[in-house]
Amino acid sequence: MRVLLTGGAGYIGSHTALVLIERGHEVIVLDDFSNSSVEAVRRVEELTGSPIRVIDADLSAPDPATGSGVGPAALAGVEFEAAIHFAGLKAVGESVRQPTRYYRTNLVSTLNLLDAMRENGATKIVFSSSATVYGDPQHLPQDELHPVGVGLTNPYGWSKAMNEQIIRDAQAARPELEAVLLRYFNPVGAHPSGRIGEDPSGIPNNLMPFIAQVAVGKRERLSVFGDGYPTVDGTGVRDYIHVMDLAEGHVAALERTMPGTTAYNLGSGTGSSVLEVVRAFETASGREIPYEIVPARPGDVAEMVADPAKANAELGWRTTRTLAEACADTWAWQSANPGGYAGGSAA
Ligand code: UD1
Repeated sequence: MRVLLTGGAGYIGSHTALVLIERGHEVIVLDDFSNSSVEAVRRVEELTGSPIRVIDADLSAPDPATGSGVGPAALAGVEFEAAIHFAGLKAVGESVRQPTRYYRTNLVSTLNLLDAMRENGATKIVFSSSATVYGDPQHLPQDELHPVGVGLTNPYGWSKAMNEQIIRDAQAARPELEAVLLRYFNPVGAHPSGRIGEDPSGIPNNLMPFIAQVAVGKRERLSVFGDGYPTVDGTGVRDYIHVMDLAEGHVAALERTMPGTTAYNLGSGTGSSVLEVVRAFETASGREIPYEIVPARPGDVAEMVADPAKANAELGWRTTRTLAEACADTWAWQSANPGGYAGGSAA
């Protein structure tokens, strides 16, 4: 299948590109490189031995020809059968400070992509959603029947829930379109080669990249956001999923035929606390991770754990990699690329 990957140079996009190519699919990467590097695409080419077509464009820009935003000009004449829509802004705190920017970028890019797909006859969309659409957990583990879009605390989360609705409505109006909403839990890890991985700009918001930067000496210590939660050790519990498992979930969703719109959790079904992740990373890296307990981060919940049964049964997919492997692979990436893609390779 020829597959367009919006945001295909990013963390999850680049790993998915690699797995798709290894399974014999053809990949077109569309990215504006605002928060990603062309070096990631180059390394996927190196790992797979396949050249990748890259379109350097902002999917959320209006079409200069019409000014109406009916598909960015960049996609005119680009033929593809399916799209995996990763492109978007993803920092929760920033979304609170810059709500209009987040809504414009994350919603208009989806609208433009759906229009471009209708124009050129593409019939499958897989959307990078998030478990964040579930808001405060009503029950654990969270299955796909858990309420969505209730009491979300930030524009990033709302933009994911709104995009789900936009895609459902677009699919209903175009029955030949198949839509899959993939609700990721907490993606971590890297390709085991250490050649591609997560390369956050500035201070990492997320736990695993922050720990990796402490291990490599870029940051002094981890701040653990609260130890008073009703969890195993008082720190927050999340369902960490290896990015290679996540990438394989996208391929499974792409390859199965499923009319209508279907949502799937992509998670392992197992929760780990912040301190459990710290210990797993210490073991994998052989480095000590100094940390201090600080007040809880506003908006954080005690525990999020996926019920992945639906994806297991219907996609024939399940996670196979452990948290220990995710830590080892993150360390391989971080230690060989302490400055990320821009810093070149230490190898
Ligand atoms: C966050 C976002 C979520 C988004 C996801 C993926 C928030 C509130 N939620 O999820 O919407 O979909 O990232 O990008 O930002 N922690 C620390 N110290 C740190 C960083 C994190 O103790 O420096 C803790 C957190 O309190 C949490 C766990 O580690 O318990 C995981 O945090 P993080 O990696 O930021 O993911 P989420 O908050 O689950």
